[in-house]
Amino acid sequence: MSEDMSLFDAMYNCRAMRRLKTDPVPEDLLVKLIDAGNQAPSGSNRQAARWIVVRDPDTRAELARLNKVSVEAYIGPQSGRPSELPHHSSEKRQRMLQSVMWQADNMQDIPALVIACYQFDEPVGPGEAARAGGSIWPGVQNVLLAARALGLGAAPTTLGLMDRDAVKTALNLPADMEAICLIPVGYPSGNFGPVTRMPVEEVMRWDAWS
Ligand SMILES: Cc1cc2nc3c(=O)[nH]c(=O)nc-3n(C[C@H](O)[C@H](O)[C@H](O)COP(=O)(O)O)c2cc1C
Repeated sequence: MSEDMSLFDAMYNCRAMRRLKTDPVPEDLLVKLIDAGNQAPSGSNRQAARWIVVRDPDTRAELARLNKVSVEAYIGPQSGRPSELPHHSSEKRQRMLQSVMWQADNMQDIPALVIACYQFDEPVGPGEAARAGGSIWPGVQNVLLAARALGLGAAPTTLGLMDRDAVKTALNLPADMEAICLIPVGYPSGNFGPVTRMPVEEVMRWDAWS
């Protein structure tokens, strides 16, 4: 696939790619991804998204450790995670879980971990940190689409960022900066394919819900 793939092709084929090769991603492509993320809109045009591309092995290992701790809680019996959903069979969820576990076991070897952060004016609590997401996720989706167009695998993740203090230490973040999303990026081990989503008729109404 090339950068020339249409926007709609990219949107409809932008699955979470968790199984990635260890081959390094050229620096100019990583800059290109972040530049694409940086084109996204933000509330009041604050442009407070900040991006860290982690290639350092020790920092990747620490982020992988933090992710693994959260994944173990996520897959554990007390997690409350649904084993199936009306639109997602237990078999498909099991497959997703296996790829989440693969990522947890291998994150330290993924060549680039992109961290989307938000620069606040002052230190904030977890609620406000989460609300900043509205100005971060459009950029994250731009990064995912750009990665797809460039033939790179990527996935949005948050589990590894739950321990905010440990993440701040690992990334040497200032007290007023929060990490919102972690996107592992690399060349995919598997094949790209279409996303499976609920039919538009189920999720859309005209004028009012009922
Ligand atoms: C807010 C958010 C948080 C997510 N957190 C994680 C995560 O921590 N780990 C992970 O492997 N995937 C994570 N994902 C990816 C979702 O599991 C994935 O987008 C969803 O299962 C759809 O997958 P598909 O696009 O391959 O169909 C997250 C996605 C979103 C939007």
